[in-house]
Amino acid sequence: MCGIFGYIGQNTNIELGLNALKRLEYRGYDSAGAAWFNDEKKEIFYIKKTGRIKSLEEEINKSVFPKIGNPFIFHTRWASHGGITDANAHPHYDCHKNIFLVHNGIVENYRVLKQRLSEEGHKFYSDTDTEIIAHLIEKFFKGNLEEAVMSALKLIEGTYALVVISQKDPNKIVAARKSSPLLIGVGEKENILASDASAVIGRTKKVVYLNDDEVAVLTPNDFNIFNLDNIKKEKVIDEIDWDLEEAQKGGYKHFMLKEIMEEPEAIQNAILGRLIEDDGNVKLGGLDSVESRLRNIEKLFLIGCGTASFASQVGEYMIEEYAGIPCEFDIGSELRYRKPILDKKTAAIFVSQSGETADTLATLKEFKNKGLLTLGITNVVGSSQARETDAGVYTRSGPEIAVASTKAFIGQLTTLILFTVYLGRQREMSLVMGKRIVSELVKLPDLANQILKTDSEIRRLAEKYKKYHNFFFIGRKYNYPIALEGALKLKEISYLHAEGTAGGELKHGPLALIDENVPTIAICPSDSVYEKMISNIQEIKARKGLVLAIATEGNEEIKKIVDDVIYIPKTLEMLTPILTTIPLHLFAYHIADLLGRDIDKPKNLAKSVTIE
Ligand code: F6R
Repeated sequence: MCGIFGYIGQNTNIELGLNALKRLEYRGYDSAGAAWFNDEKKEIFYIKKTGRIKSLEEEINKSVFPKIGNPFIFHTRWASHGGITDANAHPHYDCHKNIFLVHNGIVENYRVLKQRLSEEGHKFYSDTDTEIIAHLIEKFFKGNLEEAVMSALKLIEGTYALVVISQKDPNKIVAARKSSPLLIGVGEKENILASDASAVIGRTKKVVYLNDDEVAVLTPNDFNIFNLDNIKKEKVIDEIDWDLEEAQKGGYKHFMLKEIMEEPEAIQNAILGRLIEDDGNVKLGGLDSVESRLRNIEKLFLIGCGTASFASQVGEYMIEEYAGIPCEFDIGSELRYRKPILDKKTAAIFVSQSGETADTLATLKEFKNKGLLTLGITNVVGSSQARETDAGVYTRSGPEIAVASTKAFIGQLTTLILFTVYLGRQREMSLVMGKRIVSELVKLPDLANQILKTDSEIRRLAEKYKKYHNFFFIGRKYNYPIALEGALKLKEISYLHAEGTAGGELKHGPLALIDENVPTIAICPSDSVYEKMISNIQEIKARKGLVLAIATEGNEEIKKIVDDVIYIPKTLEMLTPILTTIPLHLFAYHIADLLGRDIDKPKNLAKSVTIE
């Protein structure tokens, strides 16, 4: 979740690095830093500062250092080892300030290495695990930076995206990656390293994704990639199709609102060119290579974290009901420590917006090691998950900048519906049923747009409900995971306490908290569990609880029971989670906005959770 930007090329103004770093701000960070080699002075200058990038910029501007340099490295840190201090910010350096580096990831064996290096006389100035890498490189440095980096990395256990410069070997940048994203931006007489494509768009669209255990050596006109034994590897240059424009707010107050408004588009993009209406089927090119293996699977795991885990849970219900495959959903951070019963007829679908979530990736690796078929539902093209799964389907939701996931969740749900039809039609799903789902899917973007038109009404409700400090979100069956999503979204951006629970669980405990000060958002579309939901709502009303219902349009009866209603259009039961989510995203957004929260960058959270 930290951001990296490294540059070597014809530009010598380090402001370029600051601007690139600002494009990585959405990832969440607590401090920032920079180091640059000034050719005239033959010296690397550096500045590290806690707080926003603005503070780093001010420090650089008021410093007496020359602001000219090349190569240069910039970093935003999200603390994992060691507190949030200037000293712990990156870049880190060795005893003689010859080697400077920035690092995303964790050195797991840093205590042992630190002890050993201290005994050898190395002096440490920070509490970080990262600093150890600088001293290890120093230990092995004999004039060639990449060789020293390779020797150092062989001793490191853990994860890294690493970018290193040295004033004794100054005409290059050396980088390496293991389980933490890093890419090369290939430009005209310049080469760039970044943890994220958004830092390079605007300068180049040509990128090379580094794989685990690869070391890259960049000069202004060239780049070469090696394995840790210094054997050169061939790499393919990819073209990225996101431009800077797409990554901007587009006139909305917050990225999050813009992204909610893009939810109909997220559905549209996910289904585009993938529906075969006459056959009641879908075409998922990303699954072609595993089609016959998928026909034979007898069990499916669905795995994600946070919001992506709620999509996985909806997927579990859908695939079980319509494709008839036994499914099990779990969150990445749990499944990896369990001992699930697996055999060669088990496959797993990993769901992730970023494709870089450490706990999801760790489970993926575990499943791969066991020889199971692994599939991805991923938004970020070329991400670790997209590359490591055997096959997969992109959600095509476009860049999601706000920390809270919204349109990517809608993209995940839509893609899971496609998966359901694909797997179902391989099995018992009838042509009629396939056609029904597909034809309802076609209508979904328009139905989603209708909900967005109720935005001002939802804002009015947010005004009414913003004064409460505790909320319940309830739902059943397909909308139980959506209750979890509604609660997570509200708590993460408004900092109000919200709890999602299955409607049927209320009387097993949570009901004790219900009174006139604890409102409940009840998701109760007209579906197979509607009557049960109404009973749950009655239980709440009997205890003076306030209820805001999400119901299907035409349901006038519900108005007599609850305090407020937001209507959604009618669709198939299995598709309702997409429609019920949209008002919940808007509700959370408006409450947070009315409370003046830092919506796109909520405190303590980061966009891409690349540590475990
Ligand atoms: C919540 C949110 C997180 C992410 C989770 C997984 O709004 O954004 O819960 O869903 O960190 O992230 P990805 O989808 O990138 O794996």
